[in-house]
Amino acid sequence: MSLLERLFSIPPVRKAIWRLWYPFLTRRLRGEEVLFLNYAFETDPPVGLQLDLEDEPNRACIQLYHHVATQIDLRGKDVLEVSCGHGGGASWLTRRLRPASYTGLDLNPTGIAFCQQRHRVPGLTFVQGDAQQVPFPDNSLDAVINVEASHCYPNFSGFLAEVARVLKSGGHFLYADFRFRDGLDEWETAIASAPLQIVQTRDIRDEVLRGMECNATRSEALICQRLPKFLHALGRDFAGLPGSRVYEALKARELSYHSWCFRKG
Ligand SMILES: C[S@@+](CC[C@H](N)C(=O)[O-])C[C@H]1O[C@@H](n2cnc3c(N)ncnc32)[C@H](O)[C@@H]1O
Repeated sequence: MSLLERLFSIPPVRKAIWRLWYPFLTRRLRGEEVLFLNYAFETDPPVGLQLDLEDEPNRACIQLYHHVATQIDLRGKDVLEVSCGHGGGASWLTRRLRPASYTGLDLNPTGIAFCQQRHRVPGLTFVQGDAQQVPFPDNSLDAVINVEASHCYPNFSGFLAEVARVLKSGGHFLYADFRFRDGLDEWETAIASAPLQIVQTRDIRDEVLRGMECNATRSEALICQRLPKFLHALGRDFAGLPGSRVYEALKARELSYHSWCFRKG
């Protein structure tokens, strides 16, 4: 295990690193219209969603949100997205699926300021906050969405307890993320003991690998233009570029990527 990996395995250190990394990234990407920070999703044959021209550059990342969020009908619902990143998913889902309200929450204050300025959509608001202490009352939401972010949290079981607390009875948790093999047991144990029922789950490794490939050219250009040279390898991992450690680990099944729909009983 490298020093960085050893540091990452300590939950408060992991949280501190992500707390620094994402605002740094938002600042570095300023002016580039990077609205999504996920590995993306594509099927074979392609999903083929009907998109507006402005959304087309983000097709594969939108498709991951579409896959996760359309597990239930969100029309007219009160929805919270925990870890909305740069808000592209929040904006697209609000425009497309017409929830009554949609709140995007993220730990990154620079990202939230970007979202508030960039995504002006009726019914959509953004708030800075922590997944471990969600600023919503008990039993207040119809759905919580969480896309490719829970690997950053220091206490995943605590996050699931927060999701269960804020959901109304009968509400849904729509979720997708990855784990390396050494984190799988802890992930599965937390999910099995969560105060939520599993409605469905799916291994989406193949779709995420295709998604990574769709975005490779754009991500490589961004890394070269926007990151200092000593961060290029890390940036390629972060973007899941073919040949990167993360892409190869997913291909070799040393990394798992799944989606879920949970229901609060
Ligand atoms: C890989 S990005 C995914 C962003 C977005 N869901 C997307 O798909 O574009 C992970 C996000 O998790 C956020 N994050 C990390 N730790 C968090 C925490 N404790 N509470 C809330 N958000 C957090 C980061 O700031 C970042 O925006």
